[in-house]
Amino acid sequence: MVYQQISRSVLFRLGSGDPEVAHEQVLAGLGRVGAARPVVEGMARVFGPKRGATVFGVRFPGLVGLGAGADKNGVALRAWRGLGFGFVEVGTVTRHAQPGNPKPRLHRLPESGAVINRMGFNNAGADALAATLRRVGPPGVPLGVSIGKSKVTPVEDAVADYRHSLRVLHPFADYFAINVSSPNTPGLRGLQDKAQLTELVGELRRETLALASGSLPPTPLLVKIAPDLSDNAVAEVLQVCADHGVAGLIATNTTLGRGGLDPNDVETGQQAGGLSGRPLTERAREVVSFVTRETGGALPVIGVGGIMTPDDAVRMLDAGARLVQLYTGFIYGGPPLVRAVNRAVESRR
Ligand code: FNR
Repeated sequence: MVYQQISRSVLFRLGSGDPEVAHEQVLAGLGRVGAARPVVEGMARVFGPKRGATVFGVRFPGLVGLGAGADKNGVALRAWRGLGFGFVEVGTVTRHAQPGNPKPRLHRLPESGAVINRMGFNNAGADALAATLRRVGPPGVPLGVSIGKSKVTPVEDAVADYRHSLRVLHPFADYFAINVSSPNTPGLRGLQDKAQLTELVGELRRETLALASGSLPPTPLLVKIAPDLSDNAVAEVLQVCADHGVAGLIATNTTLGRGGLDPNDVETGQQAGGLSGRPLTERAREVVSFVTRETGGALPVIGVGGIMTPDDAVRMLDAGARLVQLYTGFIYGGPPLVRAVNRAVESRR
């Protein structure tokens, strides 16, 4: 509550009220915090998880991770552990550095507890992220790396684009998230279709097998899906995952739907892009539930989408998710939410 009041009065005014500039300023500040190791250690004791889990062969010290898109270029890599996150997903990065869509492209819908973004994978590129990860060192918690397709790359050449990113980032990733579900890159969501997804994950799987050294298992591949897929389409994705050694699913990305907005946000709600936060809570949980039922729980799921309260996280786990991620909830709830979610999911078990 206190954080929410402070965040609305101070943090939301950073960058003269421009949400994207405010986000950049917060990231830069966190980057400085992350450099001070004893500070991070002290914060991790307060905010951090007390119990973790092993999922798809990776030991997670906590079940609550930072969702993709918050720290695309790994600017604040060392700080996230101090804020209580049990894992971090950087990216989405693409083979080629790219500026993303024209600004403004990030809109807050505070009455709805939501955000609309059409960032369009603004990122410094896979090679730059690899250089950052080499320089900064490991974040102290498992690191997921989300990879996507560059805008300049035609969809028919997508596989080589993803493969390049996977190769250069392979030394740093505890898992890869194959992002085929962002709504802001033309043609990207089409990669969720059976034939295209089969080619993409088949090739990336071959690559991780080839890159695996000695007796170590290959780096797990996870597929991140949209909440706007029909049950049949999700079932097809699951078949591809089962056939090609995919280790898990991340459900879900942002939605193109506009249901669940507060009447005060309806005008901003007309902005193009993906909607995240509270309007997504129920749908993301439904998708997780469907996947768990379809697979009998055999395919581990990271549940993400509209986790705004500790109870949302508990319900996501009850729906079958093995881990959860926050993004929009963190924008509105900050570190106290991470702490509260950690405590809630720990006392669930
Ligand atoms: C995102 N998200 C996202 N997802 C992804 O796989 N790659 C990305 O680059 C981004 N970028 C991004 C930017 C912004 C500004 C937002 C708000 C979201 C989606 C994000 O990881 C998550 O899946 C959804 O936002 C749903 O979770 P929340 O935000 O409701 O907790």
